[in-house]
Amino acid sequence: MRKRIVAGNWKMHKTVDEATALVNDLKSRVKDVSHVEIVVCPAFTALSAVADAIQGSNIRLAAQNMHWENEGAYTGEVSPVMLKDLGCTYVILGHSERRAYFGETDEIVNKKVKAALAGGLLPIICVGETLEVREEGKTEEVVTRQTKGALDGIDAAQAEGIVIAYEPVWAIGTGRTASAEEANRVIRIIRSVVAEIFDPKIAHEMRIQYGGSVKPNNAGELFSQSDIDGALVGGASLSASDFAAIVKA
Ligand code: 13P
Repeated sequence: MRKRIVAGNWKMHKTVDEATALVNDLKSRVKDVSHVEIVVCPAFTALSAVADAIQGSNIRLAAQNMHWENEGAYTGEVSPVMLKDLGCTYVILGHSERRAYFGETDEIVNKKVKAALAGGLLPIICVGETLEVREEGKTEEVVTRQTKGALDGIDAAQAEGIVIAYEPVWAIGTGRTASAEEANRVIRIIRSVVAEIFDPKIAHEMRIQYGGSVKPNNAGELFSQSDIDGALVGGASLSASDFAAIVKA
């Protein structure tokens, strides 16, 4: 049985004080939850404070991005070693906003996936099609390419713990969700690609989340699908009550 994973991507929101207040509020709301893995992904500046706040709790920490080198002359970047040092368990890689605004290609995402695994971090790899791609009928082709690209050169022994997030770009921050059946359909395609890359057992065990306008009122339907193993939540994760409601859904 795959343990569901619900992660809150706070994106570029929350000062240190705000982030601490949010996670403390969340902590008390989800303290009795043990059947779902709960992850928060604050901005780099708040990682340390949130790490302190969640010590001994059932909430895990993730970063939203990282560089693929452990150190060096890369002004403005943060390395896997630094994230591990702060207590991160996960790191989001290849989010569509990074692909769209910061030029991240499948090749860059792949370098980051390799670096995360080498550094003891579990990647949450984001894939998903734009509206244009969807309308051209190329969703399957694009998510297949992104999945294969991200996982290129990773061997089966390293695959355990990797999480994939299917986030259709047209559903992010727009209030438009993919229907639960459609999200499930694409996630099943991604799972079959994972089976092709590794083997059916790894594909069966890999957790694949849905992301894109997940809210308390649609989470239950999404999570009732056979292959949706949780959510990567943006906007609604900025409210402790909404995020806790999604976790409990
Ligand atoms: P929203 O939940 O705000 O649509 O964002 C989804 C997302 O991009 C999570 O990574």
